[in-house]
Amino acid sequence: MQILHRANETHEWWREAVIYQIYPRSFASSGGPIGDLGGITSRLGYIKQLGADAIWLSPFYRSPQKDAGYDVADYRSVDPMFGDNHAAEAMIEKAHLLDLKVIVDLVPNHTSDQHAWFQAALAGGKDAPERAHYWFRDGKGEGGNEPPNDWLSVFGGPAWTRVKDRADAPGSPWENDDSWYLHLFDSSQPDLNWTDPAVHEEFNSILRYWLDRGADGFRVDVAHGLAKDPELPDWQYHWDMVSGGSEVPENVPAPPQWNRPEVHEIYREWRGVLNDYGQPALVAEAWLGDPKDMKLYVRRDEMSQAFNFDFLISPFEEAAYRKVIAESLAEMDAVGAPTTWVLSNHDVVRAASRFGLSTMGKGPNGIRAWEEQPDAALGARRALAAHALQAALPGSLYIYQGEELSLPEHTSLPDEVRQDPTFFRTNGAEAGRDGCRVPLPWLAEHPSFGFSPDGSSWLPQPHEWTELAMDRQALDPNSSLNFFKKMYQLRKVVGLGSAELLEADGPGLHYVSRAQGRDPLHIVTAFDEPVELPAGARVVLASSEVTQAGGEKAEGYVPANSTVWYVVDRQGL
Ligand code: GLC
Repeated sequence: MQILHRANETHEWWREAVIYQIYPRSFASSGGPIGDLGGITSRLGYIKQLGADAIWLSPFYRSPQKDAGYDVADYRSVDPMFGDNHAAEAMIEKAHLLDLKVIVDLVPNHTSDQHAWFQAALAGGKDAPERAHYWFRDGKGEGGNEPPNDWLSVFGGPAWTRVKDRADAPGSPWENDDSWYLHLFDSSQPDLNWTDPAVHEEFNSILRYWLDRGADGFRVDVAHGLAKDPELPDWQYHWDMVSGGSEVPENVPAPPQWNRPEVHEIYREWRGVLNDYGQPALVAEAWLGDPKDMKLYVRRDEMSQAFNFDFLISPFEEAAYRKVIAESLAEMDAVGAPTTWVLSNHDVVRAASRFGLSTMGKGPNGIRAWEEQPDAALGARRALAAHALQAALPGSLYIYQGEELSLPEHTSLPDEVRQDPTFFRTNGAEAGRDGCRVPLPWLAEHPSFGFSPDGSSWLPQPHEWTELAMDRQALDPNSSLNFFKKMYQLRKVVGLGSAELLEADGPGLHYVSRAQGRDPLHIVTAFDEPVELPAGARVVLASSEVTQAGGEKAEGYVPANSTVWYVVDRQGL
């Protein structure tokens, strides 16, 4: 037996919370084709009933939407597409009435190129003081025609754009400006320079702005990217979204733009701001690929927790799960932070589809109609099993909107409707992330599945989603939705305590969760082969009930690709 984790001694709300990720443009609309704050507010009751403790909203700030809102033009105002600041305050107030905490997104690595700072930096020419907020440099080579270094954009192509090459240059004050600016993402997302004190001041003030309006925490976008080596040395490797440096060859110098030690000073400074407000959460989105690095972000005086992307990209395999579960708990426990468990978000192929591909792991960056199509039944079955495996583990749980419905990826979106800059920056070589961002199906029989009152939807929804619509699932006791409700309810009843991973005596991953004053809860996940339950096992939750298409007998066995929670019924022995 391996003790994975001992019960927590501190009880900040975020340590064991179920946190539901809302992708605002695709959750619910109160008007047209794009989801909005009014739609979100009207559906908060649904999230509460699901059993969540908190919501995290992807950005809803003023933005030209070149990267679906991760290109912020004004950090203190709501984009008219989503409503206005009153609507944001009303949403936060309603969430609090329902006892839901609210985590908002903070995008500190870059602004939009429409941000007032960047516009002033362009218009003011090479001497503009606003250039100090960003990374403007002269080019290399003859006439400065080469970018200042060889860095690559995460979205494809070079990480530099020359000012005079911008589409808006002709006829503008910068039409002859030959300086370059850095953007680790799209050219519309210039990177901020965190060696500039004004950038620090501005973000301290933005934190306070949303905390004063009731936010209970921040999810910090690209938390491993803010600090750069000011010398900007060459480093031409691709740092992958979510899986981080896992594809970078060994024995190359440490990246000058990712995971730099200076970044931690920023989070210490923010912690100081947050300490004035009780227990707000700071959640790191940092793609590192090594839990040893991850734990540095969640030391006591920095962030609260970090997305466990090692778990997300793990294949659905016993050995891989054993390793990632034990490692993540050990690393986070070493600094007193809770582990998080996450299987999907708005940047990856949905788990219900990823687990149905022949090669699991992070999966492709989107799927197109002519590429390998996931085995839908297998994928959904494994995803549920993985959800049930993680839900009794110590730590907090992140669930991406639609996972509770076992929603798959849209794998046949026509290219004409795609919006992700990844698709354009790779000239269509990568489909991009639109397939996991399709608006949710609420009502089976309505146009746009009830997503918007006027029946429109910014991305087309697959016909097959009729059966998965929320209203259908609500009425079906064996639906995925009702499984999640039951699971989250039970999680609260049984509580989280210590966790012990049992050595395998046969197939399957087996752990025991012991909460104070409760009977031990046993969790077993069967992978490729069924696992026999011990005598006296009283099953309290079985993912196979949802996915079992007749045939397999659940009693006495945990069928392949499923998870069971049981208690040992001593009287029944
Ligand atoms: C984060 C977001 C992603 C966005 C990127 C650039 O990874 O999750 O959606 O494209 O940052 O801001």
